[in-house]
Amino acid sequence: MRTYISCCLILGLLSVSSASAQKYEGLAPTPPMGWNSWNTFEVGIDEKLIRETADALIANGMRDAGYTYVVIDDGWETKERDPQGNLVPDPQKFPSGLKALGDYLHARGFKFGVHNCAGNTTCAGFPGGRGHEFQDARNYASWGVDYIKYDWCDHGTANAEETFKTMGNALRAAGRPIVFSICEWGNNTPWLWGKTVGHLWRTTGDVIDCYRCQTVYSLGWKHILDAQVGLEQHAGPDHWNDPDMLEVGNPGLTPAESRAQFSLWSMLAAPLMAGNDVRSMSDEIRGILTNKEVIAVDQDPLGKQGYQFMRHPSKEIWVKELSNGDWAVCFHNSGENPLEIRVNWTHLPFLRGHFKIRDLWKGQDIGKTDVGFTAQIASHDVVLLRLSPIGE
Ligand code: GLA
Repeated sequence: MRTYISCCLILGLLSVSSASAQKYEGLAPTPPMGWNSWNTFEVGIDEKLIRETADALIANGMRDAGYTYVVIDDGWETKERDPQGNLVPDPQKFPSGLKALGDYLHARGFKFGVHNCAGNTTCAGFPGGRGHEFQDARNYASWGVDYIKYDWCDHGTANAEETFKTMGNALRAAGRPIVFSICEWGNNTPWLWGKTVGHLWRTTGDVIDCYRCQTVYSLGWKHILDAQVGLEQHAGPDHWNDPDMLEVGNPGLTPAESRAQFSLWSMLAAPLMAGNDVRSMSDEIRGILTNKEVIAVDQDPLGKQGYQFMRHPSKEIWVKELSNGDWAVCFHNSGENPLEIRVNWTHLPFLRGHFKIRDLWKGQDIGKTDVGFTAQIASHDVVLLRLSPIGE
């Protein structure tokens, strides 16, 4: 009898675990980096644009700086599935098909990402994945897809956690390691259940290229930054909060606002998905996106998301623990006027001992924490420092 009961228990446990397969582990030990078509091109995408973008990412140094995922967002599909129920790449936009595009990217050292949606239709009105999850996942695997961003429009009364789990299980069953990016805009606290389902989850609605504006669907990046406070406890290697993509270099941001978004997204250990036209950016923007010392803050192997240490009406301090006892400290002027900051390092109690200080945007060592630090910060700009211990 006892043997029978324990057999049943084991079988029961096995069936539970096969019903909710675990995600592929280890695909995103640090936050994914790459480029996504949506912020600049929306549905105006085609294979020529994607190939030219990949070529530009190589020529401008971004691929080698870590931007390896090239993600095609909404609008690559035909408006209807084929008679067998398959999603079909639009033959006008992608005449060579997605497998050929994936091959082009893989041959150049990139990984290949696509977007679709957990609802009946995507936000741009193309067929969504609901009810087709396993079929779609098999197609993605056969096209060589490495990353799927899965959206949440037109979901009706579906339960978010269960719906994303279904797609996670489908991806697992398709047998190809695919990064699963959950994009339900933070509506259903994905930071509480996303860790076993996907590798990253959006925490808010969509970013747009402004500092503090707001529309019905979209938010300037400062609003998104404000919404990240307190979420740091939920992120870590292979399970990241995603405060949406970069607007760095897009027309609605000043260079200071681009530099500040890049700095603060790095403090957040956010996925760094460029969203500008990298075929035609200025040297200044290229310099922001490829600053290796700032990227190293984002990609630090400790995998700890930074947190807001202090906030006043026009200034904020964000801090991030890094490996080897280092810390990143980011001062942000959120006001409309220039700001002078004066820092007494003893007021940052997490700093134990003495540190040397490096200014990551100047690319210079600027002293030690045994004396105070003073800096001028322009409106909406940052000063970003890396502190490294030098013993007692
Ligand atoms: C949603 C997502 C965006 C983008 C669009 C595409 O709004 O949050 O990031 O993928 O859909 O329609």
